[in-house]
Amino acid sequence: MKIAIIGLGFVGLSLTSVLASKGFNIVGIDIDKEKCKKISNGISPFYEPDLEKTLKKGLKNGLKISDDISLIKNCDLLFVTVGTPQDTNGAIDLSIIKKAASTIGKNLKENKKQPIIFIKSTVIPGTMKNDILPILENNSKKKAGKDFGLISNPEFLQESNAINDTKFPHAIVLGGYQTRFMKKAKKFFVKLHPNTPIIITNHQTAEMIKYANNSFLATKISFINQLSNICQKIPGANVDDIAKTMGLDPRIGGLFLNAGPGYGGSCLPKDMKALINFAKITGIKPVLLNAVEEVNIKQLDQIISITKQRFGELSGKRITILGTAFKPNTDDIRDSIAIELIKKFLNRKVEITIHDPQAIKNTRNIFGDKIRYAKSIRDALSKSQCVVIMTQWKQYEKLNNNEFKNMTKKIVIDCRRMLVKKQLDVDYYAIGLGREK
Ligand SMILES: NC(=O)c1ccc[n+]([C@@H]2O[C@H](COP(=O)([O-])OP(=O)(O)OC[C@H]3O[C@@H](n4cnc5c(N)ncnc54)[C@H](O)[C@@H]3O)[C@@H](O)[C@H]2O)c1
Repeated sequence: MKIAIIGLGFVGLSLTSVLASKGFNIVGIDIDKEKCKKISNGISPFYEPDLEKTLKKGLKNGLKISDDISLIKNCDLLFVTVGTPQDTNGAIDLSIIKKAASTIGKNLKENKKQPIIFIKSTVIPGTMKNDILPILENNSKKKAGKDFGLISNPEFLQESNAINDTKFPHAIVLGGYQTRFMKKAKKFFVKLHPNTPIIITNHQTAEMIKYANNSFLATKISFINQLSNICQKIPGANVDDIAKTMGLDPRIGGLFLNAGPGYGGSCLPKDMKALINFAKITGIKPVLLNAVEEVNIKQLDQIISITKQRFGELSGKRITILGTAFKPNTDDIRDSIAIELIKKFLNRKVEITIHDPQAIKNTRNIFGDKIRYAKSIRDALSKSQCVVIMTQWKQYEKLNNNEFKNMTKKIVIDCRRMLVKKQLDVDYYAIGLGREK
């Protein structure tokens, strides 16, 4: 059995590497030639723990990487993992996936096999039926369900744990018509993940499941962030003890109750916006989803307001941002809340220095020489007047008085409550902790 994976980003390259490392006959395809070259040499184009190791194992097993889409012609399974970003209004931009579907369709024409096409990209309900299916059928002159299978197969992996999540997903969703292709797909996944629940449903439900998950996770984060803001007004109140206790209630669960500067990343903000936009089209007023977004947007104001309170005028002040990646163990800064904070500070003419163990290159691509990039934490803090800890990198847990000594004013805003237990000789603010008067 030959498998093609189309789109070698976080999702596609993780799947490619894991399947190839398990010995499957895989071709990974991407339109980006440079990316393909790197990957063929065993180098991941982005930072993801365990990815390179898994990729190298896959390459040893014969994994082929190419920018030639015609290689799908003799494949039995095709996984589509191209990006589905947002347009300028926040709605989903389907142009990339439509283009991919059209080239896949053209190449399907000469395919002697009857492949199954899995769409792993996140798409709003109706996309498979209204867009992807007709594009594939028109370009291939073949019929879905007869000449090829078409299955919605949303992905749930988390960056920074992508390899593990790909190896051990919590669920597999297969959406589509109950055809022989669906039976074959189920058989493939049962063998691949014998202990994982498989949900078989229709396309539109499968598409909606992905948005349900991400919007619920965003809701949990905004909920705890709203509570954290209230806690900050109660001297001595501690949002972590509240979240921990809530998490022990099996009806709630403890994950995604980490108060902080707001959610970011490549999925939650864009998927929330896409769902809000889609809800409006259906005639449903997304009151709750709007509130979740609003809380998230306002969360950064908390940080700005602490700095304003301490400095008065922000112009010309030197502020250090620790962490620009949207979470630790990744270099991904797409929709990172730290990037938003930097933009807000730059608008107020603040002098910004940043540090991040992995994301400096990506951050430089956005800000160029508008900010300073420090090689070490010590360098980042030297002569700074205020430091904001944005990303929960392990390295920042080690911060102590010695590291802060070269700051000219020692304001520390800890959005992740990493230094709460330390005796620090600084002006310390932790998001979610009410300062004792
Ligand atoms: N990143 C995540 O954590 C995550 C998790 C779950 C689901 N998703 C969803 O999975 C999809 C992919 O996300 P990602 O973060 O991996 O995207 P990405 O942007 O990192 O990667 C997409 C890749 O597809 C390639 N590509 C674009 N058009 C192509 C074409 N016609 N043929 C071949 N390759 C093409 C691009 O060059 C790029 O390398 C999105 O819909 C996203 O919402 C992402």
